[in-house]
Amino acid sequence: MELQWYPGHMTKAVRSMQEDLKLIDLVIEIRDARLPFSSSNPEIAKLANGKLRLILLNKADLADKGITKEWISHYESQGIYAVALDARDKASVRMVNATLDKVCEAKRERDLKRGIKNRPIRAMVCGIPNVGKSTFINCFAGKAVANTGNKPGVTKGKQWIRLNKAVELLDTPGILWPKFEDVEVGHNLAFVGSINDNIIETGELCFELVKKLLLVKPGALSQRYGVDEDNEPVKIIEAVADSRHFLKKGNEPDFDKAASVIIDEFRKGLLGQISLEVVSDER
Ligand code: G4P
Repeated sequence: MELQWYPGHMTKAVRSMQEDLKLIDLVIEIRDARLPFSSSNPEIAKLANGKLRLILLNKADLADKGITKEWISHYESQGIYAVALDARDKASVRMVNATLDKVCEAKRERDLKRGIKNRPIRAMVCGIPNVGKSTFINCFAGKAVANTGNKPGVTKGKQWIRLNKAVELLDTPGILWPKFEDVEVGHNLAFVGSINDNIIETGELCFELVKKLLLVKPGALSQRYGVDEDNEPVKIIEAVADSRHFLKKGNEPDFDKAASVIIDEFRKGLLGQISLEVVSDER
């Protein structure tokens, strides 16, 4: 992820979102199901004020199903529609249609009260980088339309993708920035590979990930690597190096190799379906 956020970028992103928001009724915000709080944007509630909102908890294939359900109930209790999703999977993406129908119904009722009839819903997708915005738009719209790059503030002609009789989707997703000033959020986003790996050294990132996994999913590391979870995180990483025969010159365990393998296997879901945040983590 090359994208770096500076105040100038954020101002541009907000301005571009504000322009697009004038055109739409429904904000489809994509978050990472493994970390619905960390992958949210601090400004979105304000920006989307008065609009219908739908949150898609994407990459749900990598998250704990029970915890994802709790997040969905949590959003629904706030009047926000929410759906769990694997944006790469057509069948999963089709599930969004049922919720869109409900949203359309709510919108129609709202319009009728204002004397407006049969106007299609206009929607836009937004989210922080790497949550799956382009994957979702491509899969949902059925063609490669969303490869517009991650450049905030890029101006181009607006194009609408007609999803069905009732819904039109803006072809370019809105790019939001994460709450990177919060250290824990930064770590969470680095664990799932959503922010630049270079920001934090691999060994240190893995150390933090192991600490987190011991808390949120006891047993995941011992099951995959046969390590004793009662040990300190550093010892656990060394034990993984041993068990996988990652050795440096002089038969020392190769800590860095083990660290990058643990991170990589976690990201691929090989340690199981793991959510890093529960509803009470929302701040
Ligand atoms: P963006 O537009 O929000 O920036 O995200 P994009 O669609 O480019 O998706 C980022 C990566 O996430 C892609 O992997 C994509 O395949 C993957 N992805 C999207 N949705 C899902 C999902 O529901 N489940 C899983 N498991 N993966 C999903 P990539 O192109 O291989 O990039 P990377 O993995 O090298 O970062």
